[in-house]
Amino acid sequence: MKNTIIKHMDEDSIKIDDIKIFANILKEKGTVIFPTETVYGIGANALDIESAKKIYEAKGRPSDNPLICHIGRKNQVYDIAREVDEKSKVLIDKFWPGPLTIILKKKEHVPNITTGGLDTVAIRMPKNNIANLLLRESNVIVAAPSANISGRPSPTTPEHVISEMNGRVDGIIVSKICDVGLESTVIDMTLDIPTILRPGKITLSDLKSVLKEVIIDPAILKKEQNLIAKAPGMKYTHYSPNAKIIIIRKKDKSIEEKIKNLILNIVDENKKIAIMSMEDDLEKYQKLNSLVFNLGKNLDEVAKNLFYTLKKLDDNNIDVAYCPYFEGDGISVAIMNRLLKASGYTVLES
Ligand code: TXA
Ligand code: MG
Repeated sequence: MKNTIIKHMDEDSIKIDDIKIFANILKEKGTVIFPTETVYGIGANALDIESAKKIYEAKGRPSDNPLICHIGRKNQVYDIAREVDEKSKVLIDKFWPGPLTIILKKKEHVPNITTGGLDTVAIRMPKNNIANLLLRESNVIVAAPSANISGRPSPTTPEHVISEMNGRVDGIIVSKICDVGLESTVIDMTLDIPTILRPGKITLSDLKSVLKEVIIDPAILKKEQNLIAKAPGMKYTHYSPNAKIIIIRKKDKSIEEKIKNLILNIVDENKKIAIMSMEDDLEKYQKLNSLVFNLGKNLDEVAKNLFYTLKKLDDNNIDVAYCPYFEGDGISVAIMNRLLKASGYTVLES
């Protein structure tokens, strides 16, 4: 067990002396968990092998999974990318700082442990003020995967980070619940056609507004094993709570009728059942006599609350949780990508 330094910070009134404590840990090859606008990240020096190894140790993650390099200034992209093409420059101008990770050809000195042995590197400039100040003050390029133990939902709240990672890292900065709630959109700019490898808050249509051509990797919403995911992180089980998640997609009957029937068919009376619901539907699900978790008023709120709610299912010892399918091609693509993984691709039609 490490003796973890934990500090609470408010994004609007950050004390630079506090930031310096954690910047020094990064400079001295330690690990620091910090908030970003997407999820909490566990960071260490991306260009130092010994530091990067500590991330894998803390997460218990397989070491062939490449990490995202976080920068505090746009021009640091040239420290690690061999070249930045015109289209990528447009993306950087439009979306950085923000929840977009760009994959480019790497420079020689970026170690294999950070890139998972690939000749490309994933780079992102977070928008959160605490993250930005920490990156600038340390002047370190920071590899930072989500701050969860491998295979568990990404943490978006201080309680989740501390309960899961206290003692596993050198420092933890906690703030509030993360604004976006889902990890950054990942786009590979080294392919012939720019390809979204992980959907997020920056959607296909956001990217189409500035790039002529962009596609979504077909592996994103499918389970098929033979589709080799281009983002190696996607091949591991991810986001799994202990509860069994079952997604219900509207077809003939109403979703609540389908859930009602499913609940009636559960023979084991000791099973703890929950329903995840948008705010407008809370009442009709409450009538089904199970715990109902509010995902929020709109899809942005669903994204923000999703991992937090998966964590709450576990905290409440839920065995089975039903959740409606979120249709549409905006942020719902990212929500469904995470939900499908959390459910082991269990989708029933109503
Ligand atoms: O929002 C985020 O991006 C968060 C916060 C902390 O910044 N970080 C995060 O990192 O989600 P991580 O390590 O959990 O996810 C990295 C993703 C994985 O899906 C990985 O496979 C992909 O990025 N990736 C990284 N480098 C890559 C590369 N060179 N080529 C293809 N995919 C890459
Ligand atoms: Mg992750």
